[in-house]
Amino acid sequence: MAETVVDLRGLPRSVAYAELMEQVNLVLDGIDDSISAMAMISSLLQSSLGFLWTGFYRVVEPGKLMRIGPYQGSLGCLEIEFGRGVCGIAAAEKRTIIVDDVDLFPGHIACDARARSEIVVPVLNRRNELVAVLDVDSEERGSFSDEDRTGLEGIVKWFERTL
Ligand code: SME
Repeated sequence: MAETVVDLRGLPRSVAYAELMEQVNLVLDGIDDSISAMAMISSLLQSSLGFLWTGFYRVVEPGKLMRIGPYQGSLGCLEIEFGRGVCGIAAAEKRTIIVDDVDLFPGHIACDARARSEIVVPVLNRRNELVAVLDVDSEERGSFSDEDRTGLEGIVKWFERTL
């Protein structure tokens, strides 16, 4: 069994993500199951970086609807339509969105009132189809930067091996 990461909060974010990438590859070695991967990645990110909420919304009706997938944190919204909230816009436009202050983002969906900033990253499969989004929420404003974008986009590349 691979040694698991405990706390990477003291490290520069780019170093932390490099370490996490190795952990993801180790714990998912030989696995081709995207739900299990979402569960393991949520846990690794949450236990090592300690944000408020970390997890996935899965596409259940392409172009229309996502439903909650594996996550770590307080109760999330059950479903999010494409085009609604940060997650829905990231899904509709297939692009990463960083929100420094959720109070200034029109249409932000407040599943947990403590959230102050967030990053949402599209998750694509081998055929470049959107299968989910990865959402990470923080209690602090301005928690996410381009280092997080690069790091998280690198981690979700794991799903490019799935159909
Ligand atoms: N804030 C997100 C909704 C999901 S949760 O916060 C877990 C959004 O605006 O899309």
